[in-house]
Amino acid sequence: MNNIINVNELTHDYGHGRGVFEVSFNVGDGETLGFLGPNGAGKSTTMRHLMGFSKPQSGKVEINGLNCTKEHNKIMQSVGYLPGEVSLPEGLNGYQFIKMMQDMKKSKNDDRVRYLLDKFELDPSGSVKRMSIGEKRKLAVVTAFMNDPDILLLDEPTSGLDPIMQETFIDFIKEEKQRGKSILLSSHIFSEVEALCDRIAIIKDGRLISSVDAAQIKHGLHNIMTVEFDDPKDFADFGRSELDFKLRDRSTLKCAVVVDDEDINKFISVIRKFKIKAFSEHSVTLEEYFMHFYKNDRSFGGVSYA
Ligand SMILES: Nc1ncnc2c1ncn2[C@@H]1O[C@H](COP(=O)(O)OP(=O)(O)OP(=O)(O)O)[C@@H](O)[C@H]1O
Ligand SMILES: [Mg+2]
Repeated sequence: MNNIINVNELTHDYGHGRGVFEVSFNVGDGETLGFLGPNGAGKSTTMRHLMGFSKPQSGKVEINGLNCTKEHNKIMQSVGYLPGEVSLPEGLNGYQFIKMMQDMKKSKNDDRVRYLLDKFELDPSGSVKRMSIGEKRKLAVVTAFMNDPDILLLDEPTSGLDPIMQETFIDFIKEEKQRGKSILLSSHIFSEVEALCDRIAIIKDGRLISSVDAAQIKHGLHNIMTVEFDDPKDFADFGRSELDFKLRDRSTLKCAVVVDDEDINKFISVIRKFKIKAFSEHSVTLEEYFMHFYKNDRSFGGVSYA
């Protein structure tokens, strides 16, 4: 697969541990990459570098082989960018803003504008200043997509939209995916990520900490077996076996073990030697998988520890 977006060792240190540090990832042609991480992790900062609004201190960011800092104008025209915080010029009405963005992007596709206004149920005749947060967001959506760009940078795109509009937006992005668009999507909404993303990268404290295939998680990246014992000796002996323990909680005598399909026989041959009080199995959901990273490993597979 051809890489459309390339982020290579991107570093921008804002001091006090803030910023992005040696961040590397890419988005292939027609691929949707979910970009996840807690507040302040560095998602918007990375996207701003991709739009050429900030210059890397070191490392490289490229879109379609173009250096994002040097080719800022070309990037602006070929990429649909939905910023995390929408700030619009307040002296204009919606139509005037659309016209201004058309001039800036040097593209005028009124049919597409009408299609988007209709889809997102926006009447842009009022002044931008008086628009609600959601209406401003919709106006940003219309202007980001009106020149039908092949590459989409979406920074928490559904924040501020009501639940119906969130659904409309997700359906719209599904259509865009089918039309072959390459998409980088930052989000805190797991259902949105699950519905749209092919691959997921997790950033924390400015560093990329995991990258995973969404299908792999959806189809059970890990099966978690939770085993509870009556006898502390059983608990201790079981803990010495060569299984992949995620958690062992001495106070409840519970263990959570990762058992992938190829390890199932090994797991059964170990577990049959013990007297077990309770047993349960489940696949890790996308949400659990992320919370595991978000929460500094304090819970996994339905067992949590303080
Ligand atoms: N221009 C700047 N000057 C100083 N610090 C900055 C600047 N831009 C970003 N930061 C800091 O870098 C860190 C990353 O911010 P960023 O906005 O990228 O986070 P985020 O992952 O988008 O978070 P959120 O989920 O809250 O949107 C934050 O600690 C922020 O304060
Ligand atoms: Mg952000």
